[in-house]
Amino acid sequence: MKYETVHGISIPKIGFGTWTIGGGSNANPKLDSVSLAALHSALEVGYAHFDTAEAYAAGHAEELIGRALRETNTKRENVFITTKVSPEHLQYEQVLRSCENSLRRLNMDYIDLYLIHWPRISMKLEESFRALNKLVRDGKVKHLGVSNFNMKLLQQSQSLSETPILTDQVPYSIQDLSYVRNGVLEYCQQNDILLTAYSPVEKGRLKVNQTLQSVAEDHGATPYQIALAWLVAQPRVITIPMSLNTQHIRENFESAHVELTSHESKSLSELW
Ligand SMILES: NC(=O)c1ccc[n+]([C@@H]2O[C@H](COP(=O)([O-])OP(=O)(O)OC[C@H]3O[C@@H](n4cnc5c(N)ncnc54)[C@H](OP(=O)(O)O)[C@@H]3O)[C@@H](O)[C@H]2O)c1
Repeated sequence: MKYETVHGISIPKIGFGTWTIGGGSNANPKLDSVSLAALHSALEVGYAHFDTAEAYAAGHAEELIGRALRETNTKRENVFITTKVSPEHLQYEQVLRSCENSLRRLNMDYIDLYLIHWPRISMKLEESFRALNKLVRDGKVKHLGVSNFNMKLLQQSQSLSETPILTDQVPYSIQDLSYVRNGVLEYCQQNDILLTAYSPVEKGRLKVNQTLQSVAEDHGATPYQIALAWLVAQPRVITIPMSLNTQHIRENFESAHVELTSHESKSLSELW
């Protein structure tokens, strides 16, 4: 795996997303066996960054990650866990409580990276960061970040955080350049902030045109692997594709090693 290093912290270029692991907006225990199989398969392949949220399967995704790590005897220090506080829990006491609940469900005593999941018009960022900074000081959270934040909110977060904002997690794929167009990618690259690309393969609905197909054929790779390779070839960009399919889980992980030429990267950037 390739890594991106910011502020002395190395994070794998490709991690594992967990939206739909264990359910959707609610927990669905019927999905436990398929979800656990995917997590086991990801750990076996070598994924070391897992992205989750208190909102995923109403907390059950966090429980299943904790369980998969226990079942595989994975040492805590060998994985990097990102989780998120929901927009409806951004008041001081709520942030502290959400973090405690995530820690209990994950069965861990610290979270590597804790993000505000979405901004909310009524939120008081200063109050949220008072709680987030306390969590870092207390050792419950190692690093802070945000998600779905535009440039203004990202800069505001930087000024309120006592430690560097490690990431802005946003939608980014070969087909979705909105955070390139709004300047956030360039700002992250210039300010040592990771841009974590979510929905990197368009939730499984990647459009495959002739250019993408032909680059894939030239590399003996799938178009999905090329879409991921294109993302992680970019400085400061990491990504977290999700899959329940063992073959896709492996292919996604291996896509970090597909080396695109600068000509290929450029023509893929201009596809849509
Ligand atoms: N911060 C936020 O607001 C936010 C929002 C959305 C997502 N996220 C995070 O980002 C992660 C990834 O985003 P996402 O789950 O929305 O979308 P995604 O990773 O772009 O797509 C997941 C879908 O793509 C399919 N897929 C994955 N790899 C494939 C491959 N190699 N070939 C063919 N199909 C493939 C999967 O189906 P199979 O199971 O059949 O492989 C799955 O249905 C989430 O799980 C979550 O952790 C964060």
